[in-house]
Amino acid sequence: MSDQFDLVMIGAGPGGYVGAIRAAQLGLKVACVEKRETLGGTCLNIGCIPSKALLHASELYAESTGHMADLGINVKGVSLDLPKMMAFKDEGVDGNTKGIAFLFKKNKVEPVFGTGKVLSPGKVEVALNDGGTRVLETKNIVIATGSDVMPLPGVEIDEERIVSSTGALTLPEVPKHLLVVGGGVIGLELGSVWSRLGAKVTVVEFLDRIIPGTDNEVAKQFQRILKKQGFDFKLGTKVTGIDKTKNGLKVSVEPAKGGDTEVIEADYALVAIGRRPYTDGLGLAEAGVEMDDRGRIATDAHFKTNVDGIYAIGDAIIGPMLAHKAEDEGVAIAEILAGQSGHVNYDVIPGVIYTAPEVATVGKTEEELKEAGVDYKVGKFPFSANGRAKVNKQADGFVKILADAKTDRVLGVHILGMEAGTMIAEAALAMEFGASSEDIARTCHAHPTLTEAVKEAALAVDGRSLSM
Ligand code: FAD
Ligand code: NAI
Repeated sequence: MSDQFDLVMIGAGPGGYVGAIRAAQLGLKVACVEKRETLGGTCLNIGCIPSKALLHASELYAESTGHMADLGINVKGVSLDLPKMMAFKDEGVDGNTKGIAFLFKKNKVEPVFGTGKVLSPGKVEVALNDGGTRVLETKNIVIATGSDVMPLPGVEIDEERIVSSTGALTLPEVPKHLLVVGGGVIGLELGSVWSRLGAKVTVVEFLDRIIPGTDNEVAKQFQRILKKQGFDFKLGTKVTGIDKTKNGLKVSVEPAKGGDTEVIEADYALVAIGRRPYTDGLGLAEAGVEMDDRGRIATDAHFKTNVDGIYAIGDAIIGPMLAHKAEDEGVAIAEILAGQSGHVNYDVIPGVIYTAPEVATVGKTEEELKEAGVDYKVGKFPFSANGRAKVNKQADGFVKILADAKTDRVLGVHILGMEAGTMIAEAALAMEFGASSEDIARTCHAHPTLTEAVKEAALAVDGRSLSM
């Protein structure tokens, strides 16, 4: 096996594996170093894919024990087989990671299983998982080592009682009371899984709102819906310590601004207060690679670090920690290294929370536009006025479109509702083409679909909704 490459990618997550495949398609000789036993990174192994499998299975379980009776479907004797549900999830993960191995083979990307370290520009040393080391020589190095769980000071994550998202994907039983630290994406998605399977879920959030950074109106209504589903929220509250007892946990919390301590008993705690870039042991400091003030690898707009021949993408650099953002950066860096003009449009990166209903957003929030002093118009349409949502009794939520007051160009779209994550693709495409709200309003939308609410919200920007 030759040890000379055009590109050595370190990390086989969505950034790394997509970038490696695209570079190979463009004729580069590529190796992809991965320290896990399987390809796919956080996303396929312990992130997007297993969490969505459990969200899907737990939603069906909740439907069959609740909503289905309203539809005239009497399901008797429904019971939970948690080990089987976990096996269903594991099978899905296995199929997906093997899919990447197949794609590597097809595109002639060489996977190298071991821990990579930059020796110098052009040289990566790999401590092979099977033992021994191998030095790969390469014209370019791309670091795609992703991110890891943000620790909570003073709280030890044992992945048994006090878990991160990784442990929360493999709990051996349904918690009686799951305490979630952090009202962000992970807390609400995995909180939903366990809540649907029967756990009482309490979310302790430091700020006075959930899902910070998301449009305020969406967040408020979303919280109300989750409350109806049984979530308990303690906002403006911080966890100051978690003591393990014989049968569970005693969680000390106090107001974020300071005040009296309250002790909450729970049998499991999920720490989900964010993720941090993972760059441990990569030899970056020795190679002279600069980091930014938040510990991310600093790059220019073309993913180049301050050291020639070393690039970085994905969760390890600035920007939202999302799989599709990492993937698009993987494609862009591959194209740049192949002499093309790779580019990512950071103004149009959708974000989705896969709860029921879903939250999906793209572009600017109303708060961001206000802060930037942009003059904008708002068009809103509730799913309670959409025929399909109404007949299916899934009418929670709304579509909100923000458009420039002068040009009518769409600046942001925010959807709370069933299938929001699928519907946001229309908004992203429209924004990528620089559409106005009128362009969306004049586009024929199939009836009866939930997407008619997007068209109606676009009409509402100009005050001419037809169904309100
Ligand atoms: P990663 O996927 O983190 O991959 C990096 C890889 O590099 C890892 O496999 C790691 O083992 C390897 N590595 C690290 N250091 C070395 C080294 N020195 N040598 C060799 N290999 C190394 N995003 C979404 O868009 N949608 C979702 O639904 C979603 N759900 C998520 C759910 C959970 C529970 C979590 C935790 C995250 C979720 N994310 C989701 C975020 C998403 O997983 C990340 O944004 C994405 O995986 C980042 O891709 P990446 O390629 O930058 O890094
Ligand atoms: P997050 O950033 O979404 O939410 C963390 C929350 O914890 C915030 O609301 C924050 O205010 C709060 N917090 C911070 N410190 C706290 C403290 N000490 N006490 C109480 N609350 C505290 O991070 P999360 O949920 O851990 O997710 C990490 C990353 O993974 C996100 O960046 C997200 O993009 C990605 N992800 C994406 C998913 C998706 O796209 N559907 C699903 C899961 C994760």
